[in-house]
Amino acid sequence: MTEEQKLEQFQARIDAEEKIEPKDWMPEEYRKALIRQMSQHAHSEVIGMQPEGNWALRAPTLRAKKILLAKIQDEGGHGLYLYSATETLGIDRDTMIEQLHEGKAKYSSVFNYPTLNWADIGAIGWLVDGAAIVNQISLQRTSFGSYSRAMIRICKEESFHQRQGYEIMTTMMNGTPEQKEMAQDAMNRWWAPALMMFGPPDNDSAHSKQSLKWKIKRESNDVLRQRFIDKTIDQAHFIGLEIPDKNIRFNKETEHWETSPLDWNEFKQVINGNGPCNHQRLNHHIKYHNEGNWVREAALAFAENEMKLETTTN
Ligand code: 3HC
Repeated sequence: MTEEQKLEQFQARIDAEEKIEPKDWMPEEYRKALIRQMSQHAHSEVIGMQPEGNWALRAPTLRAKKILLAKIQDEGGHGLYLYSATETLGIDRDTMIEQLHEGKAKYSSVFNYPTLNWADIGAIGWLVDGAAIVNQISLQRTSFGSYSRAMIRICKEESFHQRQGYEIMTTMMNGTPEQKEMAQDAMNRWWAPALMMFGPPDNDSAHSKQSLKWKIKRESNDVLRQRFIDKTIDQAHFIGLEIPDKNIRFNKETEHWETSPLDWNEFKQVINGNGPCNHQRLNHHIKYHNEGNWVREAALAFAENEMKLETTTN
């Protein structure tokens, strides 16, 4: 078959909702697009542990501490699923980590903002994980099998993340005036960065057109952002939180909430390394990745030894 015929057959499989598996023929550009998105997704999960880890030792109760530790551990696990799923495309983990450390690979912009107090942990769980869920539920139907299966597994854990964040915000909104103020302040700081998680507007998205054609992405950035806005504004109002956007209005005809345009210059600044915490997040990852080298070496040595023992006993 010519390259063109292979491409036609590939697109026919995609259009027929077939899952593409690692050993199947795929266009090199499809493989590269998946490595880009999936490795950045994995980086996001792991870097996302840092802002929350900042409050693990300062949780207000033992119960809150246990919940936060469980969530942070889940995020690390999500990163590992996604690195493993990306490795099925023929790239190794060291190369992905190198790309992250050299600034050649991104992670989600939202993790470049500081967590100033406990209300931020509520806002992250409710808004950031809430946005991640909207995106990841859609990604369960992605055309690449390994990614789809990783998403199905991850989504099962994300709803607990979102709910525990909303519980923190609800508790604070039922608390003292100071707690209410802290929760509203966190809402004011995390609302726009959470909306930016869905990526730039569709008309400014470099990858969406091809990604939608190959069903890597199943819905566009703006469609998913709107779905998140519609469900979250009602949740905010239900516990007495204001949306930090004086122009919001519910359009009875479209049945959607209308919001102000986001500051896409800020977004571009953050994804190009100039956000409030970019250097801190990356330096932290580099430092502890290097300090943890001995753990990887010990685990590999153990695995090799086990394999040697197995071959000698068989
Ligand atoms: N943060 C950082 N970079 C972003 C971004 C964001 N929020 N949104 C877009 N970008 C980057 C893209 O990576 C791309 O840059 P690149 O070419 O260097 O990779 C550029 O901006 C153009 O954006 P596009 O819309 O064309 O890019 P995509 O088609 O890849 O769409 C996306 C962006 C919607 C984020 C898509 O990549 C995606 O769905 N990724 C998987 C989901 C994901 O990564 N979520 C991150 C959060 S994980 C998380 O929240 C953990 C949770 O448990 C808390």
